Amino acid sequence: MDVVILPTPADVGTFAAQLIGRRVAASPGTVLGVATGSSPLGIYRELARLRAREAISLDGLRCFALDEYVGLPPDHPGSYAAFVAREITGPLGLAPANVRVPDGSAGDIARACIDYEEDLAAAGGIGLQILGIGTNGHIGFNEPTSSLSSRTRVKALSEQTRKDNSRFFPSGDTVPTHCITQGLGTIMDAAEIVLVAQGERKAAAVAAAIEGPVASMCPASVLQFHRRVTVVLDEASAGR
Ligand code: GLP
Repeated sequence: MDVVILPTPADVGTFAAQLIGRRVAASPGTVLGVATGSSPLGIYRELARLRAREAISLDGLRCFALDEYVGLPPDHPGSYAAFVAREITGPLGLAPANVRVPDGSAGDIARACIDYEEDLAAAGGIGLQILGIGTNGHIGFNEPTSSLSSRTRVKALSEQTRKDNSRFFPSGDTVPTHCITQGLGTIMDAAEIVLVAQGERKAAAVAAAIEGPVASMCPASVLQFHRRVTVVLDEASAGR
């Protein structure tokens, strides 16, 4: 695991985007795993800027989003499908057909999880996975106690996560209670992983993930077993 500590949150996005740009340039068919939330926004904005300057080409790039709320239609502004359309597909000029988000509004959610894993396998797996980290150490929506070898499945969201994400919803009681998320085993199948974090509120989770014991109580700690992970932090999130 490489740990890169940079002065500011903006530096995190720039550094990670440049790393991703180099990987995509080296293998244009790369499948990019994309995370939602505020942490990777700087990456997407920098990738869009590099593309606008023609410093990178994202032609033909395929993306798989990590997770989605259960029960929200794709056009709900709080859904991850809407986030991905707004922050990734549009700004990076990707074909919507090349961007796959788990179907949280499917009638048969268990089937939707299997379909997602099958589509991922058919695409050849994730070449490079972008991750954020929750204040409780979750990656994707793999909450504490998640099996370290889990696959894409339905999870109940913890109260902490629902509280953290309530800023994206009109009121706390409208935050969904369940999600579909890639499992920790699914995430670990990615050829390469880049995890980004910013801010003091992530410092405890970051320390537990990097230096704590590998344990399901801190799901991100499983990344200690991955052969090719870069963790990009600002000084505040690296403070512990
Ligand atoms: C969210 C997402 C994760 C994200 C994390 C941190 O709930 N499911 O993919 O990395 O929690 O979110 P943020 O970056 O907004 O702090």
